[in-house]
Amino acid sequence: MHSFNYHIPTEIVFGKDTELQTGKLIRKYGGSRVLIVYGGGRVVRSGLLDRVCKVLEEEGLAYEKLGGVHPNPYLHFAIEGVKKSIEFGADFILAVGGGSAIDTAKYIAHGTANPDIDITRFWTRELKVTKTMPVGVILTISAAGSEMSDSAVLTNVETGVKRGLSTVYNRPTFSILNPELTYTLPRYQIACGVVDIMMHTLDRYFCPAPHNHLSDEMAEALLRTTIYNGPIALENSKDYDAMSELMWCGSISHNGLTGLGNKTDFAPHQLGHELSARFDVAHGASLSAIWPAWARHVYKSDVSRFARYAANVWGIRGSNEEAAAIAGIHATEEFFESLGMPINFTTLGVGLQGEADLRDMAYCCSYKSTRTIGAFQVLTEEDMYQIYKAANC
Ligand code: NZQ
Ligand code: ZN
Repeated sequence: MHSFNYHIPTEIVFGKDTELQTGKLIRKYGGSRVLIVYGGGRVVRSGLLDRVCKVLEEEGLAYEKLGGVHPNPYLHFAIEGVKKSIEFGADFILAVGGGSAIDTAKYIAHGTANPDIDITRFWTRELKVTKTMPVGVILTISAAGSEMSDSAVLTNVETGVKRGLSTVYNRPTFSILNPELTYTLPRYQIACGVVDIMMHTLDRYFCPAPHNHLSDEMAEALLRTTIYNGPIALENSKDYDAMSELMWCGSISHNGLTGLGNKTDFAPHQLGHELSARFDVAHGASLSAIWPAWARHVYKSDVSRFARYAANVWGIRGSNEEAAAIAGIHATEEFFESLGMPINFTTLGVGLQGEADLRDMAYCCSYKSTRTIGAFQVLTEEDMYQIYKAANC
């Protein structure tokens, strides 16, 4: 087992009507002037925003609203948010929504706490975040896991680069998880979430040996739980138990727990970010479209690991390890398809790409030939190209 530090400061408040506790929680963590960050207006239409504003008023908290966060959120929007937050004198940022609203809120918090620094310099990692201000979350979609994660992902539309920043300062102060708030999700977003939850787990599970037995067992249990409940949720988005399981799986999948003691890989996420930056496709869809090609490209690095995955997650025991490994990849692909998720570029809806475009994707994903990605198998720019090419069908 590798050495690790594990500190999760996020208070989780789970259950029905828990958003009514928002005002008290903000008070508890010292907030008095709150910037509320949300997305495309759905929380306005559903009445959730009004309910939240009311409980803030009851608690005597001043607030300002900032709507309009785009899915696959933009760096320039967060920069505008920082200005608004500073003008208002915010001392607490509240995200209402999914990963896009939460990640924007995290950056706004960093910018507000560091008014002399352009947050672009954090985004490029030129500067490290050394202080921030508290961020609270009311989660409305089980997917990105940002409600407990140390990560925030923004796209710079000027450069066309989507990238994540990991820092302990990205962990929210509290997150409110009311599964009923996810009842309004369209099927497609539920399916995207199921894929993302699985991928946060798989991107940790497929890592170089030595492996940590306990983390592996937890990862496999989380995957089985998600695979079991995903189709139930798709069938009936008002199934409280299924939506609860997905919500908690989403948080645990990306709070670091399932990868403790192991190295993480996250190459599929990096390959997928390039697809989202280029085609503005949903994050979950970018992952299911690339994972089968990634898995077939790398499984020989550790066939036993893929065979274990097939056995413990899918109940597949092949005639030999290689057959089992391949069958496990196939089962994953079929599951994604059964959710209505893409498994290649055609089903992703971006069409077949030309040779020059595939090369350019690899070039961009490798940050202009300056980085490798992954740890299960370290991928060079040529590997990235081969994977994009394999998905190009
Ligand atoms: O824009 P709104 O109105 O909020 O609508 C959203 C959006 O259109 C909608 N939605 C959310 N809750 C809903 C709902 N529609 C109906 N009913 C509800 N209850 O769903 C759409 C997607 O929302 P978004 O916030 O973009 O989804 P998600 O949580 O999947 O976040 C995706 C973003 O998070 C990043 C992704 O790359 C992507 O940019 N990630 C962030 C991570 C992190 N910070 O730790 C890790 C992830 O791997 C991921 O990279
Ligand atoms: Zn993800």
